[in-house]
Amino acid sequence: MNHDLFHDAGWFLGAARRGLAARRGEGIAEVLERLAAQDVSALAFREPEPRGLPVLVHLPQCLGETMLLDPDLAAAIAAVEEGLQWRQSASYSDAVLGEGFTANYGWAEIIGPHGFFAGEDFLLGLLMLGPHRHYRDHFHPAPELYWPLTSGSLWSRDSGAFVEKPQGATIWHPPMAMHATKTGETPMLALWSWTRDAGTPARLSG
Ligand SMILES: [Fe+2]
Repeated sequence: MNHDLFHDAGWFLGAARRGLAARRGEGIAEVLERLAAQDVSALAFREPEPRGLPVLVHLPQCLGETMLLDPDLAAAIAAVEEGLQWRQSASYSDAVLGEGFTANYGWAEIIGPHGFFAGEDFLLGLLMLGPHRHYRDHFHPAPELYWPLTSGSLWSRDSGAFVEKPQGATIWHPPMAMHATKTGETPMLALWSWTRDAGTPARLSG
């Protein structure tokens, strides 16, 4: 077992827990409750095959910004980053999400089938979007929390107007709620979680 990576994965989860517990917002209590129920012991730890993606070119900028919000979490992300398996949803292509989208999008699980701990119907990870991207309307049965660690991301619920959320805000999507995310000049790094019903992937609308 890679003890350093196990230690750093635990550091990440502790930092995420502390950061979320310090906030007020819909869904945070549910994420913390479900997180506390997951097996994140040494016995449950495994190493995913590490994999990078083109969007990671923006990670240093995003981590620099995250340092201003939560230095402990930023350092923990930097510590686990080499061990992460960055992935993309299979149905997402430039044809449906816009030219260059797949070069500017990716997610990695900390807890989940491709993460350091398998989890029990629970996902927690990181999402990255490059600048000037539109992750358009989609929905899924899983309730979802986003915690953007960078500034200037824009969020839409139920196909409504996009609202800019400050760095460190949290956004909660109830089951099957339509939602979308945009970025402006600044690339986005966000922590996200699916608290249950995690087996059904997101579906784009239309
Ligand atoms: Fe979502």
